Amino acid sequence: MTVQLPEPLNLIGGSWVPAQSGRTLDVVAPSTGKVFTTIAASGASDIDAAVSSARHAFEEGAWGRMSAVQRGRIMIRISELITRDAEELAQVESLDTGKPISQARADMVAAARYFEFYGAAADKVHGEHIPFMQGYDVKVVREPHGVTGHIIPWNYPAQMVGRTLAPALAMGNATIMKPAEEACLTVLMIGKLAMEAGMPAGAINIVTGEGHVAGAALSEHPGIDFISFTGSPEVGVIIQTNAAKNFIGCTLELGGKSPQIVFEDADLDRVLPVLAGAIVQNGGQTCSAGSRALIQRSIWDKVVGRLAERFKELTAAPSEQDRELGALISGKQRDRVQAFISGTDSPLIARGKVATGSPEDGFYVAPALFGPCDPQSTLAQVEVFGPVLAAIPFDDEKEAIRIANGTEFGLVAGVWTLDGNRQQRVAKALRCGQVFINGYGAGGGIELPFGGRRKSGHGREKGFAALHEFSTIKTIVHNHG
Ligand code: NAI
Ligand code: MG
Repeated sequence: MTVQLPEPLNLIGGSWVPAQSGRTLDVVAPSTGKVFTTIAASGASDIDAAVSSARHAFEEGAWGRMSAVQRGRIMIRISELITRDAEELAQVESLDTGKPISQARADMVAAARYFEFYGAAADKVHGEHIPFMQGYDVKVVREPHGVTGHIIPWNYPAQMVGRTLAPALAMGNATIMKPAEEACLTVLMIGKLAMEAGMPAGAINIVTGEGHVAGAALSEHPGIDFISFTGSPEVGVIIQTNAAKNFIGCTLELGGKSPQIVFEDADLDRVLPVLAGAIVQNGGQTCSAGSRALIQRSIWDKVVGRLAERFKELTAAPSEQDRELGALISGKQRDRVQAFISGTDSPLIARGKVATGSPEDGFYVAPALFGPCDPQSTLAQVEVFGPVLAAIPFDDEKEAIRIANGTEFGLVAGVWTLDGNRQQRVAKALRCGQVFINGYGAGGGIELPFGGRRKSGHGREKGFAALHEFSTIKTIVHNHG
């Protein structure tokens, strides 16, 4: 199919405009390493314009006056339009990110689902009434923050629009999105669909550009009331520092080093495909990637042997070949992942392949399985953000929990055992935001609150929890005598 790529423009106040400087940035296709289009390289003045437009939409424009049910209907229309254009969006997403086409198609199902879920929820968030002293009437109402900033990464651009903008819009905030410079074309395309769906001017502003320029200007801006960030811990610190200077709240989703714990009584036929799948999904460039496999020593040889067989088959290839992995996002990311692979002292157990004939300048990395890894080693502690699985042996439940909790991160974990009491004990003991028992990941899991602890960040996305993050409560006390 021939796709139409978006122009290098920002969406500000309902209009598509170039960066005020007129500058653009080249966009590279990871599968080939070649430049194929450009985006606007925005600066502080573009962010200023977007913040003013959002403020106007919230305080004086049509958006701020809309009822929750009207907001919800527009969002459900966006969901329908994403579904209508899903194939074109998926083609652009796989071109822009290098991911296999079927993974990009699944991303569009999730992106549409976010707008459906939060569109339907918009008019279902109620306040409370508090019994108080005689003569008083007290209600607690939930209100939008006002203008919200959103900075997202390149790994799931379309899904991230849904994940972060949809709950903010459902609550009635006016939004400014700064997507990642590496991949943001579907973000612009969804912006266009939002306008087609009848989204009032200024409710969604999209400003593209570099993180340290446009992203920094947004996170520092005194005109925003809340900021949502997904990306690296290093930038998360900058975001939170800037939020502190403006005395506003933020949510940070900063990745992880998520363990899957395999006990000796686990159903291995179910475990093995999921162990491999959770690290090769999106080439391992997933915040919730299952990047540590904790395996009970009594079944180590059996599990690692079978996992090695699987790893040898895993192949990275151009996105249209739709193998298990595509290219990684950039040369920088490929080099970073390669440096982890060549720099480790942990033994290499098995390595997958890069398909022969893949473009030489594409950013391909063959997946790698290492082990036994020392729980304190780099591969067992640092987020690689690539297709590298660290296998770590343990002797008993206590040790498994200690190793699982023994990193700075705490996002997701998987527990594989058929012992019901152990399932509960371990789930309770894990320090993270989501635990899967006899499974891992949940195909988007829009309904399920998601987020981290410590270096994985704080605040919750998805589910009703996100509606709470993107709103604040006001207590109204009426003394009617
Ligand atoms: P990054 O944190 O630099 O980029 C994420 C977003 O933040 C992008 O939109 C970027 O433009 C923006 N940004 C960058 N610097 C900024 C600044 N000073 N102020 C405001 N916004 C800024 O992540 P990067 O460099 O793309 O990847 C580095 C590592 O971060 C990866 O290897 C991975 O470990 C981690 N990461 C985690 C993600 C997750 O989903 N949790 C997503 C992307 C990266
Ligand atoms: Mg960076």
